Parts: sequence; C-alpha cells; structure tokens
Amino acid sequence: MRVVRLASEIDFAGWRAAARALRAEGLEPPAVVWTVERDLFDLDAPAAPSGKAGAFTVPAAFVDLAQQVILHRAPDRLALLYRILWRLEREPRLIDNPADPDMARARDMAKAVSRAAHKMKAFVRFRRVEGAADETYAAWFEPAHRVTEAVAPFFARRFTAMDWTILTPDACVAWDGERLLVSEGADPADAPSEDAQEELWRTYYASIFNPARLNPRQMRQEMPKRYWRNLPEARLIPDLIETAKDHVAAMVAAPPRQPSDRVLKAALRHARDASYEGGVPTSLEQVEAGVQVCRRCNLWRNATQGVPGEGAAHAPLMFVGEQPGDQEDLAGRPFVGPAGQMFDRALAEAGVPRDRAYVTNAVKHFKHEPRGKRRIHKTPDRGEVTACRWWLDAERRLVRPRIIVALGATAALAVVGKATPIGANRGKPLQLPDQAQGLVTYHPSFLLRVPDEATRTRAYAEFVEDLRLAGQLAGVT
Ligand code: URA
Repeated sequence: MRVVRLASEIDFAGWRAAARALRAEGLEPPAVVWTVERDLFDLDAPAAPSGKAGAFTVPAAFVDLAQQVILHRAPDRLALLYRILWRLEREPRLIDNPADPDMARARDMAKAVSRAAHKMKAFVRFRRVEGAADETYAAWFEPAHRVTEAVAPFFARRFTAMDWTILTPDACVAWDGERLLVSEGADPADAPSEDAQEELWRTYYASIFNPARLNPRQMRQEMPKRYWRNLPEARLIPDLIETAKDHVAAMVAAPPRQPSDRVLKAALRHARDASYEGGVPTSLEQVEAGVQVCRRCNLWRNATQGVPGEGAAHAPLMFVGEQPGDQEDLAGRPFVGPAGQMFDRALAEAGVPRDRAYVTNAVKHFKHEPRGKRRIHKTPDRGEVTACRWWLDAERRLVRPRIIVALGATAALAVVGKATPIGANRGKPLQLPDQAQGLVTYHPSFLLRVPDEATRTRAYAEFVEDLRLAGQLAGVT
C-alpha cells in the first residue's frame, strides 16, 4: 500500500506528478491511498516523478476533466482519477465513452463543479467593510465545491478597480487592484453583514420580480436555498412567493400597469443613478449593473434578466451576437446554450481561446413569444438594436478591442451601423469608426439550422476560417 499526501485538497500539480510516477512504477489503483490529511497515517512523501514518468501521455481532454474533478468535494475523486488514468493506457477510447461508470461519475463531478463555479459568479455579494481606512469590500460565500481559487480571476476581471476579499470556509481570496492573494479559509463572522447596498439590491429584485412568471421549482434551481443566506434579495423571496397568486389575480383584474408607476420609477432611477455614474458607464461593472435596470426599450418586460457581455476586460478580440437565447436569459451569460456550444466548438477548431475574447450581444434582453411551454426566439427590430447600442458602444469603448466580429446580420447592423449582408461581406476586414477592425460572419444558430448537409459543412468551414482570421488579426492565436 502506498500513501500519497497532497499539499492541499486542490493540488492538481501534486496529484499529476504523483500519479505519473506511480503509473510508471506500475502501482495499481487499489494499492494507492490518496490523502491530504497530515496525521492520519505515517505518510510517505509525495511520490517523486521517476525518469519514466513522462513516457505515457494522456489525452488533453483527460487533463481538462481532471482539473475540474479535483475541485469536487467527494473524497474518492483522487482515486477515481488515478483509476481512469491507469485504464487509459489500455483503453485509449475510454475518455469518449459516456456509458463507462468511472467516466460517467467523473463527468457528473465535473458538471457539479462547473455549476458550483457558475453559482459563485452569480451569487457572491460584496458588502462595504465598515471602519476600513480605504474603501474595501468583502463577501462571505460557501461554494458547493472547492472552486474559490478557480473563480477568483473572474472577480478580478469584473471588479478590477475595487479592493475586495471573498471569504469562504475553504480559502479566502483578496484582490488589491493588481494581485490576487490566497489565504486559509475563514469563519462567517469575519465578513461584514449589512450595508446600504442591501436595500438597493432588494429594491431592484422586487422591481424585476414578475409574479405571473413565478415557478418556485425553477427559482430554487436557479438560486438554490443554500445560497439565500448571503443574498440580500433572498429575504424577499418567501414573501414574494406567498403573495404572487394575489398579485397575478390583481394584475389580471387591473388595467395594464403603466411604466409611469411612480414608486417603481423612483426605485429604478435610484438604481440607475448608482450604476450609471451620471449617465455614461465608466466601467464594465457599471454596464453590467445598468443592463439590469435598462428601460431603453420594452424587451426587459418579458425577459428574466439582462445579459451583459463577459470576458477579458481589455480583450483584443470582441464577438457580438444577436441577443441572448432562452438559456442565456436564464443563466445571465452570453452564448451558453446550443448556439454557444456550436460557437465554442468552432473557436476550438480555429485555435481561438474564448477566454482571450470579450463575448457580448447587440441586444441584451431575450426577445421571444410564448408558444405552449416554450419561448420562441424573435429577431429584435431596428429600434431595439438602436436602443441597445448604448450598451454595446459602452462595451466597445471600455474594452477597446482590436477586432470586432459580428455574428450574423443583427450584430452586423449594430457593429457596422448599417445593414451589411453576411454572404457578400464575410471574411473581409472592415474599418470601423472606433479604430477597431470589423469582420462579419455567420451566426452560430444559422449553422445549426441549415437543412442541407453539404451547405452546412461548407458554411461551418467558412465560419471556422473567419474565426481563425479574427484570432490572427487580434494576435490571440
Ligand atoms: N445567440 C446569440 O446571438 N447570443 C447568445 O448569447 C446566444 C444565442
């Protein structure tokens, strides 16, 4: 029996070095015990890589999977990964076999980790630290898995200009405007509790809550109860659910509510002033907050939320889609549904890393019409595209990309400022007024819809070619 101790629960480099060495030595999975606890056994030092350690290469997909799985809280994840690694030498196709129980479990773990990271991005709420000499913010959060360090760069990009700390039971991360610092886990008592922003969040949440669309099950899925404790707006939820039926009945009985409802307007003005800083957004955080309270056109009424762009703050490359789809509207992030998967696949083939780009949409709210239980996409009209250019122009000004790629005709209209047919213009760089170069190409949803296989294959190849050109012009490939 060999006992291997890792430096921490998420020590992927340590696991990888030890697993390679153990594999090269021929130690079978049942003969290895993985631990991070120091005084459980009389422990061996972590296995040192031997000369043969690099002889066996594993697919890159396994390394990606293992980096996710190690963040899961299941104690057997390290042994599971070593068992898969061991099997891969004799079963190289294992990684593509979703029915294999080891692979199915690993994939489930990776999904759970990715969900936990997503929830952390959505539900961390910073509070001002009272009495601190400089303006500084802190948030307490309990992630479902050990994703704190992995998610920290996201917050550094989003809140670059702010000093903040996120405290969790596993680890604390702090941003001082330049560097991310990681330290040991903390106690909830270390985080500040209330401040003036809480009230603002609650006002905002109550104003976007639409009782006619209440679906408590989905609400709990989207905002699981375990996170409510840290969300100022969560305090409203039981009451809003309780009174939703009465509100719906009142809405049906009453004449349509005018947007001039004074109370709502005052609350929105309050939120908007706080987030627009006198009108023009001066940071991506202001864009993000402003999109949530935007009333420049009517699309906010039926959407779950506004979906701002996301990505590297000064990305050299920007992609602009049409508008969030059904899944993006629920998740609050661009290109995460079927079109997003097609987009990701093409980016990977073109060798363009998505995390070097800023991805956004011409229109920030989901335009759709109900059909039975489904919400069917509707193309935004010119007025809606024009209204939403306020946000797209702010993103362009703040990110200052070298290359802006418009995905599809609506995006081309927003980016170029006039109708720019894709077939006649794709693949040719265009000079845009803001110093950036523009490219127009197909929308990924178009590629999903082309009925004829040969045409689809050709259009997909052209799409990949356009993304590759964009990556080269932006210098990210
Ligand atoms: N289609 C888009 O144009 N944007 C998204 O974010 C998703 C689908």
